Amino acid sequence: MANPRVFVTRIIPDAGLKVVLEQCDAEVWPEELPPPYEVLLQKVKGCDGLLSLLTDRINPQLMDAAPHLRVISQMAVGFDNVDAKAATERGIPVGNTPGVLTDTTADFAFTLLMAAARRVVEGMDYVRAGKWKTWGPTLLLGQDIHHATLGLIGFGRIGQGMARRASGFDMRVLYYDVYRREDLEKSMGVVYADLDTLLRESDFVSLHTDLNPQTRHIINDDAFAKMKPSAILINSARGPIVDPDALYRALRDGKIAGAGLDVTEPEPLPASSPLLSLPNCLIVPHIASSSVKTRGRMAEMAASNLIAGLRGERLPYCANPEVYERGNLRGG
Ligand code: DGY
Repeated sequence: MANPRVFVTRIIPDAGLKVVLEQCDAEVWPEELPPPYEVLLQKVKGCDGLLSLLTDRINPQLMDAAPHLRVISQMAVGFDNVDAKAATERGIPVGNTPGVLTDTTADFAFTLLMAAARRVVEGMDYVRAGKWKTWGPTLLLGQDIHHATLGLIGFGRIGQGMARRASGFDMRVLYYDVYRREDLEKSMGVVYADLDTLLRESDFVSLHTDLNPQTRHIINDDAFAKMKPSAILINSARGPIVDPDALYRALRDGKIAGAGLDVTEPEPLPASSPLLSLPNCLIVPHIASSSVKTRGRMAEMAASNLIAGLRGERLPYCANPEVYERGNLRGG
């Protein structure tokens, strides 16, 4: 029997790619930039499986253009780029990669917090520019991390990872989530707060929610108006959770002290973005999960989801498990 046909939308780490190439008739998009939507539409036409990244728009039109497509495996935990509801309606399981990137992402969110609070990048720029003439009593004053209040918006795996890291710095941790986790409050020493209280009382506000219609631009002018002028915003979740125009105004006008962003709206952030003109805005290119080990494990998980879907087996990590209750699996 011929191997199933699949399209892989970028070169992924070998740990996953090798498995896909061994078991499938695979075409791998070789470019640094993602395939344009129209190209992707053509590429998936005869495919049984698709291994996608968060930069690919996977919508109903694309699913309909590929009548044999019976699995979409995304190499990321977030899958807001995939219309999972449309996939469920069409009987297509969608895979993702939860769990493996939790600690790596929390490490990085905490790195951003520390770097923004202590103005690490500004310090490096200062040295590089040859401005370091002497020890200065008020040079690059930052915000203390120890004993400060950390407000976590979203208290899933990565939010909890942040709380664990914060306890080592004697921080007070508030969290807001649509699901209250009373079971964890005592053991982790965290306190539930409504969103307003969290925004008003936190020295650091760190975002760990998924992107959905309720969380889009949840950090907007109103939210910044409630935050402390000394507060720092950290976003390692999804860019559009923050209104970028409101963020610019808040940083420019001193409504908050700084921001550390791994994600932006849009991505990539154009070089002309006004955010890049602000010294108190630290921005890196969506690399929170980017460690050698973690990206390798994400690729492995994406490959195993893909292969399971092609074999008609339940995906080990399925983002739309309700697809199995409908009895309309494609190719099933
Ligand atoms: C994810 O997996 O959703 C991250 O944003 C990328 O690693």
